[in-house]
Amino acid sequence: MPSNAELNLPPTNEGYGTHEYWEQRYANEADGTTFDWFLSPTYLLPLFEELTSSNLDKGKGKGKETRILTLGCGNSALGEVLYDNGWENIVNIDYSKIVIDQMKERHISRPKMEWLEMDILDLNFQDEDFDLVVDKGTMDAMLTTKGDPWNPDEKDVRTCTQEVTEAIRVLRKRPGSKFVYFTFGQPHFRKRYMENRPGFKLSWKEIGPPEGFAYFMYILEYAGDA
Ligand SMILES: C[S@@+](CC[C@H](N)C(=O)[O-])C[C@H]1O[C@@H](n2cnc3c(N)ncnc32)[C@H](O)[C@@H]1O
Repeated sequence: MPSNAELNLPPTNEGYGTHEYWEQRYANEADGTTFDWFLSPTYLLPLFEELTSSNLDKGKGKGKETRILTLGCGNSALGEVLYDNGWENIVNIDYSKIVIDQMKERHISRPKMEWLEMDILDLNFQDEDFDLVVDKGTMDAMLTTKGDPWNPDEKDVRTCTQEVTEAIRVLRKRPGSKFVYFTFGQPHFRKRYMENRPGFKLSWKEIGPPEGFAYFMYILEYAGDA
């Protein structure tokens, strides 16, 4: 049977791209609801071990000390699963005030993790504040304008490009720093937003899960001088 979260869908796909939709969705959800749009956080844990093992800058930002920003956290369990597995230096942001208030309340017993209402297109952080910036399904929600996916709407292109520009701005410019994007979007539809970023190298791989639909992990890693 579909969950409440699954029933709480917009009338058209474009609804996913609006702030109003998300506020209303979270307002209608029962307290304590957790919903991951795809890829369970537990399934992702070995990937986070790998992603954070190469932050080599003199012990700073390394392994479980990695300073992580999640973009468009919603009420995903990613933050809590990471926290409970040792990554406590996490800031989660979403432009829905309602979901941020819900998540603050829910995670009161995980005091080192922060929840902030913020637009991912205009980050209120200084330059070079994070080691790892994560998008799981958020850019996907911004790519909902009707039309030809091979030639996306100019507004969508601008928005997704701006998201990546902001993510790079707040990344520490040192070896191991990364923007990581988990998505169902195949490379020919998504790499355009991340490629040709001076000082960064783009790679991607299909990450399963083995029994289902193909999901991808894109990694835009700092490759400039330390
Ligand atoms: C498809 S959900 C993904 C939620 C979660 N990351 C997951 O894996 O299930 C997209 C989330 O991004 C948020 N969002 C969309 N556009 C945003 C923006 N410009 N700034 C901040 N959050 C945004 C929405 O409020 C929603 O919580």
